[in-house]
Amino acid sequence: MDVLVVGSGAREHALAWRLARDDGVRRVRIAPGNGGTAAVGENVDLDVTDPDEVARHASRERYGLVVIGPEGPLAAGVVDELASARIPTFGPTRAAARLESSKSFAKRQMQRAGVATAPAESFVDPDAALAFIRAAEAPPVVKADWLAAGKGVVVPETHDEAEAAVRDLYGSVAPGARIVLERRLTGPEVSAFALVSDEAVVPLAAACDYKRLLDDDEGPNTGGMGAYAPVPWFGRAALERMAAEVFEPIAWRMARDGVPYRGVLYAGMILTADGPMVLEFNARFGDPEAQVLLPMIDGDLAAGLLGCATADRSLMEESVAVRSGSVVGVVIASDGYPEGPRVGREIGGAEPTSAADDGDLLCFHGGTRRVADGRYETTAGRVVTVVGRGASLDAARAAAYRGVAEVTLDGGRFRTDIAARELGLGDGTELRDQAG
Ligand code: GLY
Repeated sequence: MDVLVVGSGAREHALAWRLARDDGVRRVRIAPGNGGTAAVGENVDLDVTDPDEVARHASRERYGLVVIGPEGPLAAGVVDELASARIPTFGPTRAAARLESSKSFAKRQMQRAGVATAPAESFVDPDAALAFIRAAEAPPVVKADWLAAGKGVVVPETHDEAEAAVRDLYGSVAPGARIVLERRLTGPEVSAFALVSDEAVVPLAAACDYKRLLDDDEGPNTGGMGAYAPVPWFGRAALERMAAEVFEPIAWRMARDGVPYRGVLYAGMILTADGPMVLEFNARFGDPEAQVLLPMIDGDLAAGLLGCATADRSLMEESVAVRSGSVVGVVIASDGYPEGPRVGREIGGAEPTSAADDGDLLCFHGGTRRVADGRYETTAGRVVTVVGRGASLDAARAAAYRGVAEVTLDGGRFRTDIAARELGLGDGTELRDQAG
């Protein structure tokens, strides 16, 4: 079959690469894609937040499967339009994707499904929200109830910062918008992923993501500067527990409420002293988590995603398996990321992974475009994810940083401590000189 992958980041490069390797896939296209995805399939210039445009293209091309990467097209209703055009599509409808796009909806569904999560209140009146903060013992986490391009969650250290975050968020939206104030949870953070199709759940794996820009979890929050999987302290048994306590109850609740969920569900978890609690749901693979999860998947991923899209439970359950070994991904970002990334700079030593590549070193492009003579230049903040695979976390990490050392990008930055703590390497100082 022919497959269309929607999106333009390193996550979509990884998805397109992995799908292109499946026997049943004849051709992969990526809309709109980036400089690197062109090494896997043909890029198609579409406005992927316009459901009609995507559905018209998909109908004309008769794709056997459309796979949606990012949240924007989900929230715009691209899946709903593709469903009306009878194109099998991997990803939730707009209503089901509210598990990500509306924090208050997600919170309500978790409470109704009996999923452990932090206590929270939602507000439309800024004064009521400010009064709640002043009365709270500790400053709460402030969450916008809309998709805010990664800027919708603030974790304040003080009550003043929490109040400022509320004023900021309300300053950027029309009256009537809702925010959620949530008790801050503490403990190690882990992301758990499962395929969900109505009430059927196939747990995939857990990964750890590094959200801060700089080593030792310092600097501003980003979309993610690196990831590794599997997580030694959150193994298969923990994942099975999450399936029983999180994914299955929420899938059941959504189906019972007439908004069945089909796609990958990403639960951001905190392992608190009182047990694991869900911090948030995302209705998609994470980025950069996808870049480490997808190279771990054996079997026929395209068939698995098709089974998920069409509620063919046995196809979904039988097609996808997770292989042994470890994967580490390191993001190389542009100078100025995340505030104002420099674009138009040449990046070298980052040959994009093609469908034929299946080695220990992979390079997924995010913010790049191909220019003359087969060179690449930057177009966005997170430029590439360099991924290492190995029999152990140590070997995977070594492979990833070997690949990072080959990349040349003026002002490029990356963390030197991805997966370091897991290996007792402290803070990754052995790589710090290389980072410059
Ligand atoms: N890496 C976090 C996310 O994709 O939301």
